[in-house]
Formats: sequence, C-alpha cells, structure tokens
Amino acid sequence: MLAVARRQVTVQRTLASALRLSTWSTVPAGPPDPILGVTEAFKADKDPRKINLGVGAYRDEHGKPYVLPSVKEAEKRLAGALDKEYLPITGDASFTKLAAKLAYGPDSTPLAENRVAVTQSISGTGALRIGGAFMARHYPHAKVIYLPVPSWGNHTPIFRDSGFEVRGYRYFDKKTVGLDFAGLKEDLQNAPKNAVVLLHACAHNPTGVDPTPEQWKEISDIIKERSLFPFFDMAYQGFASGDTTRDAFAVRHFVSEGHQTALCQSFAKNMGLYGERVGAFSLIAADPDEKARVDSQLKIVIRPMYSNPPLHGARIAATILGDAGLYKQWEGEVKGMADRIISMRDKLYDGLVALNTPGDWNHIKRQIGMFSFTGLTQPQTKALAEKAHIYMTADGRISMAGLNSGNIEYFAESVSKAVKGDL
Ligand code: LMR
Repeated sequence: MLAVARRQVTVQRTLASALRLSTWSTVPAGPPDPILGVTEAFKADKDPRKINLGVGAYRDEHGKPYVLPSVKEAEKRLAGALDKEYLPITGDASFTKLAAKLAYGPDSTPLAENRVAVTQSISGTGALRIGGAFMARHYPHAKVIYLPVPSWGNHTPIFRDSGFEVRGYRYFDKKTVGLDFAGLKEDLQNAPKNAVVLLHACAHNPTGVDPTPEQWKEISDIIKERSLFPFFDMAYQGFASGDTTRDAFAVRHFVSEGHQTALCQSFAKNMGLYGERVGAFSLIAADPDEKARVDSQLKIVIRPMYSNPPLHGARIAATILGDAGLYKQWEGEVKGMADRIISMRDKLYDGLVALNTPGDWNHIKRQIGMFSFTGLTQPQTKALAEKAHIYMTADGRISMAGLNSGNIEYFAESVSKAVKGDL
C-alpha cells in the first residue's frame, strides 16, 4: 500500500514540474541589432574575401583596428602612476572641462560665464541616454522629439525608452541623394512649439549628408522662431572635414545665437576609444546658479543608472586634450583618418565608373564622414552578403573606413555585379 502511495506522489510531482512553465517562457526572441548584428554575421563567415562595412569603426590601410599614436603616448604617461578610485558621479572634472572646450570652442561665452552643465558619459549613447532621462524628468514641455529621417538606428529606441514620443522630420532626398532642405524646413516649421529637435552636428549618420553653414543658419532661425529645442548629437567631431573646429560649426553657431542647446559628445571615433566608452553630455544654462541646479539633478539621474563612469578612457582623453603637443599630434591623426576615408571615396567612385556600373555615383564623393549611403537596395545588400561575403547595414550604408587598397577592387567589382544583377 505504502509503495503504491509513494509511486503516486512521485508521478504527481513529475507531472507538476513538467507542467510548470519557466518564468521566461513568454519572452519572445528579439531581432538582431541592425548595426551590431552585422558584425555577428561577419564573424560567422569563414570566407577569406569577407569585408565588414557594417559598424562605424575606423580601420587602417591594412583593415586593422587603429590605436592612435597619441592615445598610446597618453597611456604611456598614465601607466601605473594613478589610483583606481571611484570618479565623482559626473566624472573626471579635468576631462569634462576639456571636452566642453573642444566642442564649444576656447572663446565660448557660456563656458567663460560658467553656465555649461556637463557630465562625463558612457560614450555618445550614454550621453544621449542621460540627456533623454534628464529631459524626460525636467523638460517643462511635452516630451516630443523630432529625428531626421533617416537617423542613427539607436536614436529611436533611446528616446522611446526615455519616455519621449518620437516623430520624424524630412532629411534625406532619395532622388537627389542629398539633403531635402525644403522638406526639412517645412517639417520644422510645422512642428509643435517646444518640440525637441535632434540634430547631427556633423557627418550625419547614416547618410553622410550635412547642411551647409548657410543652411545651418536657416535651421537655427526656424528653431528660434518656432521655440523648438535643439538637441545636438556630435559623435564625429573631426571626422567630417578632418578639422575639429570646422566640424563644430553648427553647435557653436547655435550657441552664439543664444540657443540653450543640449549636446552629446563621443570620443569613440575621433580618438578611436570605442571600447573605452568616453563621452560627455552638456546643457547650457542661463547663469551659474541654474547650472549648479542642473548639475545636481544630472547627478540624481545618473547615480541610480550606473553610479559613476569609468576612469581610464577619460584620463586618456584628458591627457591628450590637456597637453599642447599631444593635442596637435592628435589633430593630425584625426585628419589622417578623415583623409584616408576621403581617398577611399575617390577610389570607389573611380572603380564603379570604370566598371560601367549603372547609375550616378557622385554622391559617394560628395558625402562626408564615416559613412556612405550608397543607394544599394535591400536585395542587393542581401546578395552582397550571401554571394560576395560583403556585409553592410540593410539600408545600404557602408562604413567607408572598412575599405582599403587591398579590398576596394573586390568591393567595387562586387557592387557593380550586384547593381547589374550579375552576382
Ligand atoms: C554606427 O552607427 O555604426 C556606430 O555609431 C556604432 C553603433 O554603436 O551603432
């Protein structure tokens, strides 16, 4: 009798555990990240001809990651000499001061008047996230943000997760493969008062199409007239033209016009500090008292997110920005990276034209910064990945930095075949 009862209990327990669903059984599988997922597909490909033009990360002439000599020198100077204590919540003050000076300029009025609230951030994405969280809590108007169409793929989730309603303004004109300036102006003019407008300060990602200085001035006027709030993302200062001052034109112009801008900076691209995660978020306040209050609230936003930022990358950036000799060397290295990308644009254009590739490819030379928005269609990008082992984002964006004299011919040939339908 006892044995039968025991067996019954065992059977019941087995049934119960089989029926009990895992806590996470309803979690659906998510899609791969549209940009970082490309690197995963590239890594899984074993073909020796493979090329990764997905993520925007600089590669040298041999296709290898590039550690800037100025960064190596800064690391040498830092080696072993410093402690590993916590940074303050808003980061290394010597770094944030220098980062703000790089962006706003050495003769910036708000900096001189001590009314720029700035915090270190976990690179550009972290800066955007801090900005989103701060604005969600303290922006005194409706939480509506306008992004250019198209924009960097992570902008929408960042602002949506921060509690913003995300809308778009026209930016890229497929017909001219350039800026849809009329559409941009019309959309900003029709945006509701006080809406936030995200602006790529330079080297627009993904299109490589930037407004001219004259167009920036008009955009600034509309934003002022319509009482919109300009929120700059400057992830590529130096990468667009090879000159950090020229690339800061839009930000400095808006500030000189009296806009209270928000600004996100990244040192991933211009110092090659991708994995170090160094960036900054800043806001222009009306006076030092308001700045101090904003600073205090930035701390309250950041502390529960990640407590305080990492040390090493900020020390590297501060060492470079704070030493006249290293700064000059670094500027030369940024220019070197920008120039190599520009030379690849020329080579790619020449290659496609020499192969009689149907279409007008001038935009490859006109576009600036890390990326080219090639105009390749989704079936073409798919064929390039599957048949030629060439990886790019599905929208046809290529990271120009992934091209070099060793792979550019193969790339041009493959693109030419894809466009002709011969792949
Ligand atoms: C890119 O657009 O490829 C870069 O900004 C890297 C990233 O995080 O998406």
